[in-house]
Amino acid sequence: LNIAVFASHGGSNAQAIIDAAAAGRLDAAVKAVISNNSQSGVLERAKQAGIPGFHLSSKAYPEPKALDRAILDTLIAQDVNLIALAGYMKKLGPQTLAAYAGRIVNIHPSLLPKFGGHGMYGHRVHEAVLAAGETETGVTMHLVDGEYDEGPVLAQSVVPVEPGDSVETLAARVLHREHSFYVETLGRIAAGEIVLPPLNG
Ligand code: GRF
Repeated sequence: LNIAVFASHGGSNAQAIIDAAAAGRLDAAVKAVISNNSQSGVLERAKQAGIPGFHLSSKAYPEPKALDRAILDTLIAQDVNLIALAGYMKKLGPQTLAAYAGRIVNIHPSLLPKFGGHGMYGHRVHEAVLAAGETETGVTMHLVDGEYDEGPVLAQSVVPVEPGDSVETLAARVLHREHSFYVETLGRIAAGEIVLPPLNG
């Protein structure tokens, strides 16, 4: 697998993927890190790892079509065949979605379809899980089809909600699971256990 990781914030999932690929625990190469946010820690992480990092945003490309094209051109130039979204807060454009149809994965910090959809990100997810009195939550890996958190589910991992959990303690437990589960799921894709359609070029 030749992966591009997209992230908007801290990039701890991106780091987990970078580390696993570098250590040979994941049969993949991270060919690019892309962020809409120039301040995102993920670009610094890419630099440290010697991976090309790209800041591609509506600041440089005010026209959505041009941004979409710039992202797609970058992916093609880096020979990417799988897009891994990890806390990427923007929607991909139609050209990129079409070129990578079926080969774009995302991670979400709940057991979708529970606690997904527009506005359900970051700590809001865990707040809602606690408010609903859930005894378990988890992590979902799914395909991206252009809507928020709506593509087909590839894999899920359950994480317990412990009595006395705060948003912070729950968020930390789920994020920790995300790191291993993202790598594990990418490994299953690399091994052909999860079958994705070929790149349509
Ligand atoms: C993760 O919780 C991910 O599920 C969500 O955004 C967060 C990203 O965290 N979509 P990080 O940037 O990988 O540290």
